[in-house]
Amino acid sequence: MTRKIWVFDTTLRDGEQVPGAKLNLYEKLEAAKQLKKLQVDMIEAGFPSSSAGDFNAVKEIAAKVGNTDDVIITALARAVKSDIDAVYNSVKYAEKPLIHIVLGTSDIHVEKKFAKSKSQILDIGVDAVKYAKTLLPDVQYSTEDASRSDFEYLWATIEAVVKAGATIINVPDTVGYAEPEEFGKLIFKINDRLKNLNDQVLLSVHCHNDLGMATANTLSAIKNGADKVECTINGIGERAGNASLEEVVMAVNTRSEVYQAYTNINTREIMNTSRLISSFMGLDVQVNKAITGDNAFAHSSGIHQDGLLKSRDAYEIISPIEVGLDDMELVLTARSGRHAVKNALEKLGFTQLTETQFEGIFEAFLELADAKKEVYNHDLYVIVENYYTEHDIHNQDITNYSDNFFELMDLQVISNPIFPSASVKMKKADQILKNSAVGSGPIDALYSAITEISELDIKLLEYNISSVSRGKEALGKVKIQVEYKGEIYTAKATDTDIMKASALAYINAINSIVVDHLLPVK
Ligand code: KIV
Ligand code: ZN
Repeated sequence: MTRKIWVFDTTLRDGEQVPGAKLNLYEKLEAAKQLKKLQVDMIEAGFPSSSAGDFNAVKEIAAKVGNTDDVIITALARAVKSDIDAVYNSVKYAEKPLIHIVLGTSDIHVEKKFAKSKSQILDIGVDAVKYAKTLLPDVQYSTEDASRSDFEYLWATIEAVVKAGATIINVPDTVGYAEPEEFGKLIFKINDRLKNLNDQVLLSVHCHNDLGMATANTLSAIKNGADKVECTINGIGERAGNASLEEVVMAVNTRSEVYQAYTNINTREIMNTSRLISSFMGLDVQVNKAITGDNAFAHSSGIHQDGLLKSRDAYEIISPIEVGLDDMELVLTARSGRHAVKNALEKLGFTQLTETQFEGIFEAFLELADAKKEVYNHDLYVIVENYYTEHDIHNQDITNYSDNFFELMDLQVISNPIFPSASVKMKKADQILKNSAVGSGPIDALYSAITEISELDIKLLEYNISSVSRGKEALGKVKIQVEYKGEIYTAKATDTDIMKASALAYINAINSIVVDHLLPVK
C-alpha cells in the first residue's frame, strides 16, 4: 500500500541560516508563495524570536500564504516561553498554524551545551510542549542531535512529550553523522514504539548533509516508517546543507515501487522554485547537482546523444518536463557525434543533405565547436550557408539566413559610479551597427546598447559569471537567461575578457531568438 509522505520545507528557516542568504520581507513572501505553488505540506517560515524582521516575515507569510487550509505554517522556537510566544504570535494568522519546539537530547547537548541533567532537560521539554498546547493544538517537537543520543533517553523524551500533547515528533540528524542503514534502524525502532503509544502522531526526520548522506538518510527513514520529511530547496542549509527537497521527492516519484510512497508535490514547479531561491539568496546551484543543476538534463557525450536519439530511456530516468524544464538538452559540443549534429540540422529543416554535404558540414562544425565550445542553431545556419557558398550550391533550403544574425565586432565598457557606459560595434549582413548606452552598471549599459541595436523586446532574467580556469589567463564564463515573448532563452560564452564574454553570451541569446522568431519562412 502506498503512503503519503508529508513534505515540510525549511528553506526559509534552516536554508536562510546560510551566511549571506538572508532574505528581505518581500523576498520571503514571494518565496513562500512559490513553495505553496510547489504544494509543500508545511512551510517553516523562520525563527521569529531572532529578530523583529523575521517575526514580521513569519506573520506576513502566515496571513498571506497560510490563508488556505492546504498548507501548514510553522516557525521555530527554543524550549522557552518567549520563543514559543513569538512563534504563536506570528503563525496564529494562518488557517493551519503549528508551533515547532527544538531541544537537544544527546549527552553532548544535555551536558555540554546546557550543563543540566537529563531529567531537567526532559522536564523543560515537557513544560514547553504543555505551554505551547495552551496556545495551539498542533505542536512539533524536535529532539535535536537525535542520531547521537542515547536511545532509551531519546525514547523517554519522545514518550513524555507525546503524552504532553506533541502531535509531530521530529528526529534530526543535526550534524549529518548518521549512516543510511543505521538511521533507518533508528527510525524503525522509534516508529514501532510511537505507533503503539499514539498512532495519530506523525514521525518526521530532518537530515543534514555533512557526509553527503542527507538524501540517502531521509529515504532510508521513509523506507523504515517516517511519515514526514524536512527538506530545503537545492539542499541549502546550515553548513553542508539539508536533504534536498527535489532529490527526495523525485526519488520517491521515480522509485515509488521501492518506497511504496508518494508526495503531494507539484514536481513541475521544481525548477521555478529552485531558480527563485537561488537568485533571491544569491546561492548558485552546483552545475552537476541532481535534479536542479544546470547539467542534470544536459547530454553532451556523443555516445549518450546517439543513444538518446535512438531511445530516450537509454540515458534518461526522469523526463525534464516532469520537473518543469522544456525538454532534454542536447548540447552541441566538439564531443557530439554525427547523429546529434544530423538531428539538429534536420530540426532546422536541412533534411535533404547528401552524405558528402553532411560530412563537409560536420567537419566545419567540429572546427567551430573547438573554438567556441558550444554551438548554437544560428551557428549551424552559418556553417551550412558557408558550405553552400563555398560549393556553389543553390538550394532553397537556405536564403541568406545568416544575414539575420548579429555578430560582435568591437566593444568598449566604462565602469564608474556616475555614468557606467558602453559602446558596441556589431554587424548584421553587410550593415555595421554602432550604439552607446548608459546603465545602472557596466553590464546594464552593455546590454542596453546591444538590445537597442537588435530592436527586440528582451528582458534579462539572469546573469551569471564564473571562472572556468585559474591564474592570469583565467577564462570567464558568462551564462545568461533572457525572456522574449514569454519564452526563456539560455546562452553562454567564454572569453578571457569578461565584458566580451558577456556581450557574446547576450548575442548568442539574441541569435537564438532570431532563429525561432525572425527567420524568413522556408
Ligand atoms: O538541525 C537541526 O537539528 C534543526 C532542528 C531545529 C530541527 O535544524
Ligand atoms: Zn537543521
